[in-house]
Amino acid sequence: MSKQDMFADLTSQTAALLGAERDPIANAANAAALIFHVLPDLNWAGFYILRGGELVLGPFQGKPACVRIPAGRGVCGAAVAQKEAILVEDVHAFPGHIACDAASRSELVVPLLRSGIPVGVIDLDSPVIGRFDADDRIGIEALAAVYLAASDPFPA
Ligand code: SME
Repeated sequence: MSKQDMFADLTSQTAALLGAERDPIANAANAAALIFHVLPDLNWAGFYILRGGELVLGPFQGKPACVRIPAGRGVCGAAVAQKEAILVEDVHAFPGHIACDAASRSELVVPLLRSGIPVGVIDLDSPVIGRFDADDRIGIEALAAVYLAASDPFPA
């Protein structure tokens, strides 16, 4: 199965899993669990939620992680600032990368945008250098769009 087909499956599985549920935290929890268990070679998959200018840890799978990421900091903060996905081949070569788990070697962060306004991110970490490519970015962006359409905004 090609990577594109795998992501098409994962995206429709996400839509089916979220179903008619609108709770943004419950949906983020199930989306994180699905991503973590379906995609190979991940050591962390989850959400950070933008609250008062800071990214606050949301539902995730993997080891305990940094709770608050100030605006503009780390890969997650950069993805929010740029309103664009960031794919990091080697986290050791990314200035400002925040190491939550020393095992992480590559990372993909996709911002969650509601009407162009960032409300959080989906963050994937891998222990393998260069784990993520453009297909992963496009696939997770599609999954983020399904998640946002299926869920109410995060509570303030
Ligand atoms: N590495 C991220 C921090 C979050 S953890 O990877 C779960 C960053 O640099 O923003």
